[in-house]
Amino acid sequence: MTSRIAVFGTGYLGATHAACMAELGHEVLGVDVDPNKLAMLEAGEVPFYEPGLEEVLRRNIAAGRLRFTASYEEAAEFADIHFLGVGTPQKKGEFAADMRFVDSVIETLAPLLTRPTVIFGKSTVPVGTAERLGARARELAPAGQDVEVAWNPEFLREGYAVKDTLHPDRLVLGVDRHRPGRAESVAREVYEQLLNEGIPFVVTDLATSELVKASANAFLATKISFINAISEVCEASGADVTVLADAIGHDERIGRRFLNAGIGFGGGCLPKDIRAFMARAGELGADQALTFLREVDNINMRRRTRMVELAREACGSLLGANVAVLGAAFKPDSDDVRDSPALNVAGQIQLQGAAVNVYDPKAMGNSKALFPTLTYTSSALDACAGADVVLVLTEWTEFRKLLPSDLEAVVRKKVIIDGRNCLEPTTWRDAGWTYRGLGRP
Ligand code: UDX
Repeated sequence: MTSRIAVFGTGYLGATHAACMAELGHEVLGVDVDPNKLAMLEAGEVPFYEPGLEEVLRRNIAAGRLRFTASYEEAAEFADIHFLGVGTPQKKGEFAADMRFVDSVIETLAPLLTRPTVIFGKSTVPVGTAERLGARARELAPAGQDVEVAWNPEFLREGYAVKDTLHPDRLVLGVDRHRPGRAESVAREVYEQLLNEGIPFVVTDLATSELVKASANAFLATKISFINAISEVCEASGADVTVLADAIGHDERIGRRFLNAGIGFGGGCLPKDIRAFMARAGELGADQALTFLREVDNINMRRRTRMVELAREACGSLLGANVAVLGAAFKPDSDDVRDSPALNVAGQIQLQGAAVNVYDPKAMGNSKALFPTLTYTSSALDACAGADVVLVLTEWTEFRKLLPSDLEAVVRKKVIIDGRNCLEPTTWRDAGWTYRGLGRP
């Protein structure tokens, strides 16, 4: 069945959701307050790098199923199914999530709702938010009690956003148990194709659905910090964390994914989400339960410092050294540099007196905007010109494929530090290079 849907927010989450809902055959209106984003999307251009999304966007605009607007009035008139996909960044100077964008959608949209409506929240929010927003929406809307707020958390990964939206591991829906309504049946219509594919559909209460998302991200962050903590012990004992990860990963209870040791996690989700989770648990009087996440965060941040130390060891002193940094995005197949370990390391090294030359296949524009004082080059080879040490900080395929012979003619010293354990040590050592990984002998 075809539904009419409005999606609020056209960032990674909202733009992908809008395009993918149209791909499922629905009529979709994407809504944002940012005229630049809207202009790009209307022209069929994705404002960020996400493989495959542009094709979906263009195909559905051309088919007349997907449009964009800044007008909430138009959205309220157009659809009775609304998805809320705006950002919940970390508040400045504290751990808690900044809810102003989420709140502002409800404050603006609800007064315009004159017909029965379901609002599905997708943003990652502190537990308790959906219930609060539901009450507020019913208070503000002319349709009053006929406005429902349900929660449908999003688990998409950057770089796989289209696949994760159209073929997710699971769908989760939180509904208000105190006021049973239409949310579940509407969700079943919207996601009919996915459900027919047999994708697990977990229907629960609002609080559980909000916590599913927070817990999933906390678990992933913990898994990464676990292997990075073990990596510190490997370094101290001469063991190899990559072999260790393969070995424990064979245990199905553990699993190999998210056990890649390196300079740790970053991006727009994991770091701020574990902090917001701790803050919310504190408000609820359950802060002790999540104090381990503080350690998860500490282990993660320590990896960045360790990388800087390794670079210093390699150069003798960072003062006056020439450092090549390959990778600026927080992970490959993304141009996102929010809380990127790679850029953070590059910045620290420069602040300690080195000349830092950065290259990333996709994240140059965003990096320049965030760290304008670093030197940006137009290729990996240019970044390595005259380098005393080469740091691989994001595991782009382009860097994995680099051969010692590619760089030999341009570097000053044949030293490479693999911040993502993504290179083959013997290839480099056999060619006369000093190779160092994190947690590897
Ligand atoms: C994450 C969650 O995976 C996703 O489900 C949620 O919806 C949003 O947050 P994303 O931020 O796109 O997605 O990135 P992800 O692929 O999870 O990687 C996060 C960070 O962890 C990256 O910096 C990555 O380099 C790092 N990482 C990942 C590791 O250091 N080691 C690993 O083994 C895996």
